[in-house]
Amino acid sequence: MITVKNLTKWYQTGETSFQVLKGIDLEIAQGEFVAVMGPSGSGKSTLLNLLGGLDTPDSGEVSIGGKSIHDLQERERTLFRRKNVGFVFQNYQLLPAMTVEENIAFPMEAEGLPKSVVKATVSSLVKAVHLQGKEGNFPSQLSGGQQQRVSIARALAMKPSVILADEPTGNLDRKTGTEVLDLLLSLQQQDRLTIIMVTHDVFSASYADRIIFLRDGVIEMDIKHKEGDKHDVLAGILALLNT
Ligand SMILES: Nc1ncnc2c1ncn2[C@@H]1O[C@H](COP(=O)(O)OP(=O)(O)OP(=O)(O)O)[C@@H](O)[C@H]1O
Ligand SMILES: [Mg+2]
Repeated sequence: MITVKNLTKWYQTGETSFQVLKGIDLEIAQGEFVAVMGPSGSGKSTLLNLLGGLDTPDSGEVSIGGKSIHDLQERERTLFRRKNVGFVFQNYQLLPAMTVEENIAFPMEAEGLPKSVVKATVSSLVKAVHLQGKEGNFPSQLSGGQQQRVSIARALAMKPSVILADEPTGNLDRKTGTEVLDLLLSLQQQDRLTIIMVTHDVFSASYADRIIFLRDGVIEMDIKHKEGDKHDVLAGILALLNT
């Protein structure tokens, strides 16, 4: 469970300050697949970074599994994040000089896990993201969709309960984007991971159970669909996009 209470964030540029998030309240249940949509500049990435403790808010609270992450000291927060949250970015953020295997192993090695555990986990993650045979490739020797699957495997390495994905299909064509979305969906359905995904695209958002629409730093709409009424959600988004 993720709880967000009255979250605010300001940015200071020179003399002017600008409020990006204007008091966000939110509850996300374990195992929910949430899409965050909204115009460019509405605060989606800022919100995601605050949810994962990559950035600190000016006021308000984010708790993950009952733990208030911004009450933690920097170092404790880094450790908490490493164990509980997996990040996936639009541009993959793989280390170019490391192979597929080394990229996936990286967070586990940073954590000091035994070599045998790292090796076994890498091998099962490579299978889970269907990259057998590519273990020794460098990122530049992979397609965009394959690179994104490596980044998802890396995000999963520490067995997080939450995946935060910022436009994970933003650089991919429909076919490879679909592979990535199917993978995220299977993680939600089989492993009960919570997935929070920022997206501009209605097709990607249609994978989610719930769509949160941000505009100018506030939640303009929060639509959840029940089993079987997914197209109501889609109709809702389409209506919003037309406004
Ligand atoms: N480090 C920063 N310093 C100053 N302003 C910032 C900073 N980061 C973001 N902003 C501003 O905050 C606002 C929200 O940015 P954010 O990246 O959260 O938007 P977004 O909804 O993710 O947009 P996009 O869809 O284009 O990715 C924007 O107006 C942006 O210019
Ligand atoms: Mg963004």
